Amino acid sequence: MERTLSIIKPDGVKKNITGEIIRRFETAGLRVAAIKKAHMTKAVAEGFYAVHKGKFFYDELTDFMSEGPVVLMVLEGNDAIALNRKLMGATNFKEADPGTIRADFATSIQFNVVHGSDAPDTAKFEISYFFAETEIF
Ligand code: CMP
Repeated sequence: MERTLSIIKPDGVKKNITGEIIRRFETAGLRVAAIKKAHMTKAVAEGFYAVHKGKFFYDELTDFMSEGPVVLMVLEGNDAIALNRKLMGATNFKEADPGTIRADFATSIQFNVVHGSDAPDTAKFEISYFFAETEIF
């Protein structure tokens, strides 16, 4: 069993496709072990994406992630990190496989609907950034 952090970004929440995205996760065998809605401040978004600090898209990205509410989830399952990334599709929606969340709903490389942890160490950091162990079931 592995855990990963999933975020339905402000564009996904605005599109009202939270249920559709969760249905895809559950159908593929992932289990929602924790879930909450939150509105990040700019500082919280900057801390979350600290690994991208200095990149040309960092300021726009952290503005976007703090412009409206998001849905935060801990997903659990076999190979949860890789499976979630497969279901999301490539960061750039133009390169995302057909039928993936980003191919179906993203509108730009920035407004790409979902985020998912990319490795076990980042998953650990990202989960603990938003969830206490007592909130994960
Ligand atoms: P995410 O998987 O959340 O990781 C970093 C985010 O930065 C990415 O999705 C995009 O929303 C955003 N982003 C904006 N521009 C770029 C870019 N040129 N390359 C990668 N990520 C970008």
